[in-house]
Amino acid sequence: MPEGKDLQDLQERLAEINRHEMGDTDVSQMNSNTQKEDKKMENATDASRKPVVAKERETGQMAESPSGPVGLDVGTTHIVIAQNEVNHIKTTKQLNAFFTIPKSKFAKRILSNNEILYYELGDLFYIIGYSADSFANMFNTNTRRSIKNGILSTVEKEGVSVIQAAVVSLLNKPKRFGETICFAVPGEPLHGTGSVLYHESIIKRFLSHMGYTPISVNEAMTVVLSELSDEDHTGIGISLGGGMCNVCLSYLSFPVITYSLQIAGDYIDTMVGQSVGEPATKIKLIKEHELDLGSEPKDRVMTALHIFYDDLINKLIDSMQRVLSSTDQIPMIANPIPIVLSGGTAMPKRFTERFTKTLKNYKLPVEISTVRLADDPLNTTAKGALIMAMTEAE
Ligand SMILES: Nc1ncnc2c1ncn2[C@@H]1O[C@H](COP(=O)(O)OP(=O)(O)OP(=O)(O)O)[C@@H](O)[C@H]1O
Ligand SMILES: [Mg+2]
Repeated sequence: MPEGKDLQDLQERLAEINRHEMGDTDVSQMNSNTQKEDKKMENATDASRKPVVAKERETGQMAESPSGPVGLDVGTTHIVIAQNEVNHIKTTKQLNAFFTIPKSKFAKRILSNNEILYYELGDLFYIIGYSADSFANMFNTNTRRSIKNGILSTVEKEGVSVIQAAVVSLLNKPKRFGETICFAVPGEPLHGTGSVLYHESIIKRFLSHMGYTPISVNEAMTVVLSELSDEDHTGIGISLGGGMCNVCLSYLSFPVITYSLQIAGDYIDTMVGQSVGEPATKIKLIKEHELDLGSEPKDRVMTALHIFYDDLINKLIDSMQRVLSSTDQIPMIANPIPIVLSGGTAMPKRFTERFTKTLKNYKLPVEISTVRLADDPLNTTAKGALIMAMTEAE
């Protein structure tokens, strides 16, 4: 690591570049110019040839060339890959975050010496994944995100190449050209902005470029596929992630109703941070390590976390009541159906109990038998996507 004046100089230059990058983006051009998009895709493909300059220590994994179908979850916070091994499903993940620094021999030496995951594009080094988090912490600033509220960010011009590089750090080209890869896409946001179609098409294109046959599956449907096999895949799957809550009512494996709300873990971090005057990154850490929704909150941060968790749960169940009540598509289901909760935001202690208690204040047009937490909430979507990929590849 650099020391003294070197470190200070580098810090200042990096902070300046990151400020400049954030404020210098033309959103309208990104959405309207397809030629430019094609160019970006080429750049992304170029970048993907050389992104993993250093080993990824945090996951302990090197990218593999899979010899079977693959499940992929490109989430706001994490990118997760699931593959079928002899007796179990193997998952690997990467943080979906990045941080840029200006190219220089000095910076290159720092990155290489510290085994930081990065690639080069234009006159910048793009540090990605868990490495970006460590690097941003070192400079006391935040990482940048290629996905915002579940959908490809409109303010990050190079978001696609960042996602691709992060995927490539976990997954190589398939051993067999045209191998099936199933990736999760969000449901249409109820009140949101951003295009799911655009997001889905861009991911599909780079997976095709890698030599896969990509198939998309709704994120909340993956929860049903992974967790409700004993119930004939009939029930409600909910994925509560970083940027979104996704909901799917499935009847005998058919996703009858799907939608998303663009609020989840990031919303809680931001709202709590604003309420108590602390950075969202600090709130996130406290939330992930200390929150127990079954115990009396003992300080301001905990009180605010309880308040905004309740706010999120109420908004979510309220949306379910409104959406399910306003459709005539719900099939006649003889028996009560289960709800399965997954995603990182469903992980605090006693979340399921809190959700169940709040549910009693609402009247859904379908009867609910049980509410339960998925076995492995951070990996449920990738596992469900793998199940879909294996079925499609048969
Ligand atoms: N133990 C925990 N307790 C509370 N929150 C957690 C915990 N672990 C992770 N989270 C939160 O879960 C979120 C990330 O969850 P997940 O990886 O399921 O999201 P994602 O799939 O990347 O995002 P999305 O589905 O919204 O696009 C973050 O907000 C993170 O702070
Ligand atoms: Mg998710």
